[in-house]
Amino acid sequence: MNSLGSALEALETFLLFSDLLVEYPFPMTADLMDKIVALAKRRGFIFQSSEIYGGLNGAWDYGPFGVELKRNVKEAWWKATVHFRDDVVGLDAAILMHPRTWEASGHTANFADMMADCKNTNCSWRGRIDQLKNGKCPKCGGKDLTQPRAFNLMLKTSLGAMEDSSSVVYLRPETAQGIFVNFANVIDSMHRKLPFGIAQIGKSFRNEITPGNFTFRTREFEQMETEYFCRPEQALEKYEEWIKARFQWYLDLGMKKENLKLRVHDKDELAHYAAGCTDVEYNFPFGWSELEGIANRGDYDLKQHAKFSGKDLQYQDPVTNEKFFPHVIEPSGGCDRATLAFLVDAYHEETVNDTLRVVMKFHPKLAPIKVAVLPLLKKNEGIVALAKKIKSELQKDMVCVYDDTAAIGKLYRRQDEVGTVFCVTVDVQSLEDKQVTVRFRDTMQQERIPVERLLGYLKEKLS
Ligand code: GAP
Repeated sequence: MNSLGSALEALETFLLFSDLLVEYPFPMTADLMDKIVALAKRRGFIFQSSEIYGGLNGAWDYGPFGVELKRNVKEAWWKATVHFRDDVVGLDAAILMHPRTWEASGHTANFADMMADCKNTNCSWRGRIDQLKNGKCPKCGGKDLTQPRAFNLMLKTSLGAMEDSSSVVYLRPETAQGIFVNFANVIDSMHRKLPFGIAQIGKSFRNEITPGNFTFRTREFEQMETEYFCRPEQALEKYEEWIKARFQWYLDLGMKKENLKLRVHDKDELAHYAAGCTDVEYNFPFGWSELEGIANRGDYDLKQHAKFSGKDLQYQDPVTNEKFFPHVIEPSGGCDRATLAFLVDAYHEETVNDTLRVVMKFHPKLAPIKVAVLPLLKKNEGIVALAKKIKSELQKDMVCVYDDTAAIGKLYRRQDEVGTVFCVTVDVQSLEDKQVTVRFRDTMQQERIPVERLLGYLKEKLS
């Protein structure tokens, strides 16, 4: 770098020290959704599936930052649900299951949306009948619609060399059934006593008639589900405990309280066997919508699988020898929906020195990158060597990147846009005093920290 370049970088650093910050609350408007979708593509969070072929409706790919964010969401859920509790164990069941599973669960007969088509040839709207507006087509307002018909949402495929009715299997539409069919295996292998839960994270598939709102409703998605088994008389208490625990999980990961609420299902929304269901809803730019449902399901699922499999799926009390079907509380959340809500909630715009700063204020546990190490002068060998050494030390404990592809001001803004929590800048002074500048994303405040204390400092701030 020539001396003019160095002087400009130094000037830019000086200006960033004196940033003037004007922050304003961000309104939840449809316009915000457009900004999130644009940022997600521009900065490598989420891309349309098979985009070069024109895309595939209802499927999305997570890019380099998106995959880190989503992994962090799943990791936070797994820790809170499995590792930090003594009463829940994990499971990873296969996506493909015996077709009788879906007969027992009721999905073969009932997992359908009622749909209709608009007969107006200029319109040709097709969708769910709950989208109709006062019985009229939501697109053209026409009244001439086909009779409502049931459309099963399960995706079919076939196993083995023969493609006949005997080879049909389904891509699971929920992970829950993989848990129910393993209930006896977990009891036998883990010697669990009631109450206890089995949790799993995994892909589910639904042939949604109208996928949309970005990754909110898709045809391939991931669920984070727990089936919590208890004695019938404990069910109400455990239902209430799980509602509180699941609501708190979102708050603990920094989601704004005013953007979250609980919605209790009306009696007529409940399945005939369910005693209650409460949704955690998020205030998305397109309106309040479900993130997760917590259901009090009675003993329906285990009884159904016992009936269809002929296996005894009752629990035997080890003290009294009493046998009964446990009741089930089911907290069932969507990983992609939670990730989308965290993206929306993190989005901030600020005016700094009359220019726009877009910053993703993710909770440190969720931020895709924890630390970016930035050499102030990329042609100074001493600075580069020290910066690379710092990066290789830090990456043993936290997700870390090294970037020297632009001037420091631009690098800071790029890291802000993907929510990197700290930037560590190595400059000429660092070679002498063995200190680096640590800049915090949310306040842009900077501190000089000795290199030998850096790891401890960052670990403490990120915990
Ligand atoms: N075992 C219960 C069950 O599957 P659900 O309400 O159908 O219940 C649970 O799904 C969660 O899965 C939802 O709250 C949502 O977060 C997520 N989910 C369901 N369908 C989805 C879809 N088409 N796209 C993305 N997420 C979906």
